[in-house]
Amino acid sequence: MNLPIRPRRNRQSPAMRDLVRETELTPGHLIYPLFFQEGQESTPIASMPGCTRWSIDGLVQEAGEAHALGVPAVVLFPRIPDELKTRGAEACHTDDGLVPRAIRALKIAHPTLTVITDVALDPYNSDGHDGLVSDDGRILNDETVAVLQQQALCHARAGTDIVAPSDMMDGRVAAIRAALDSAGFQAVSIMSYTAKYASAYYGPFRGALDSAPKAGDKKTYQMDPANAREALREAALDEAEGADILMVKPAGPYLDIIAKIRAATQLPIAAYQVSGEYLMIKSASAAGWLDESKIVHESLIGIRRAGADMILTYFAKQWAKAWRG
Ligand code: PBG
Repeated sequence: MNLPIRPRRNRQSPAMRDLVRETELTPGHLIYPLFFQEGQESTPIASMPGCTRWSIDGLVQEAGEAHALGVPAVVLFPRIPDELKTRGAEACHTDDGLVPRAIRALKIAHPTLTVITDVALDPYNSDGHDGLVSDDGRILNDETVAVLQQQALCHARAGTDIVAPSDMMDGRVAAIRAALDSAGFQAVSIMSYTAKYASAYYGPFRGALDSAPKAGDKKTYQMDPANAREALREAALDEAEGADILMVKPAGPYLDIIAKIRAATQLPIAAYQVSGEYLMIKSASAAGWLDESKIVHESLIGIRRAGADMILTYFAKQWAKAWRG
C-alpha cells in the first residue's frame, strides 16, 4: 500500500511507546480512602473484600505504609457506634470524637502525610442521610450547612489538611470557607464533592459503615446520573464559593463529566473510584475472569486521561506497591 502516514510507527517498541505516552500515573496522583472504628480491633469489611475497618493504631500503620510507597494523602471514613448516632448528628463535632483522635494520631506519626476528612452527616445521623431530616422526611439544607460548618471546624482544630464536603447541600462550600477563615484556618483546603451522583455504586461503602439511609434515597441532593450540564453548574458554583479542588464521583462511569469539568475550570480535579467500581474489579478478578493488576492500572489511567489530577482509590496502596516493583 502507498501509505505515507502510518500511526503504528509510534507504537512499534516499548521505547517508542514510552516516548509518545500522553498520560502519566504515579503514586503521587493517588489518595487512599481508609475506614476505621473505635477499639483495638481491626475488622475485615464483608461488603468490600480486601478492605479493613482499622483501629486507630491500625489506621496509622496502614497510612504510613501507603505514604512510604509515595501516596501523598489519605481520606478518612469513620464507623460511628450506633449509640452515638442521633437525629442532630451532634457527634460529628465533638473534639474527642473518633475522627479528631485519628487526625491527631496520623499527623503526629506522619507529619508529611496530607490528611483529608469527609464532611457529611451520614455516619453520625440516625436517619443515615448526609443532611438533617425533618419530621416529614425532607432533607433540610440550611440547617444542615450550619452543622457541616461545626464539623469542618472540629476537623480543622484537630489538624486536618483538607476538608471534603460530600453532602451535596447547596451553599456549603462558601459557608465552610467562611467558618474556617473566621476561625483562623485559612490554610485548610476544601476539596468539594462537586458532581456527586446518586449512584448504586456506593452500596458496598454503606455496608462498610452501616450508613445506608433508613428511609428514602439520596436523590434530592445527589445528582441524577442522566445529567451532565448540571455538573457544570455545580462546578461553577463551587469554584465561585472558594473550593480548592473539585471532585467527580463515581469516576469510571462518569469520565465524560471529568472531561467536561476539566475543560470548564483551571482548578485541580479529583475523581473517586468508588466502592462499587472497586468491587466489580475485585470480584471479577477473584473469579479468575479478569487480570486484576492490569485492570486496576487501566481503570486508573482512563480516569487520569479523562482529566483527573488525582484519584481516590481503594487500590492506592496496592497499585503503588506494584508500581515500585
Ligand atoms: C457519604 C459518602 C459516600 C461515599 C463517600 N462519602 C456514600 C454515599 O453518599 O452514600 C461513597 C464512597 C464509595 O462508595 O466508595 N457522604
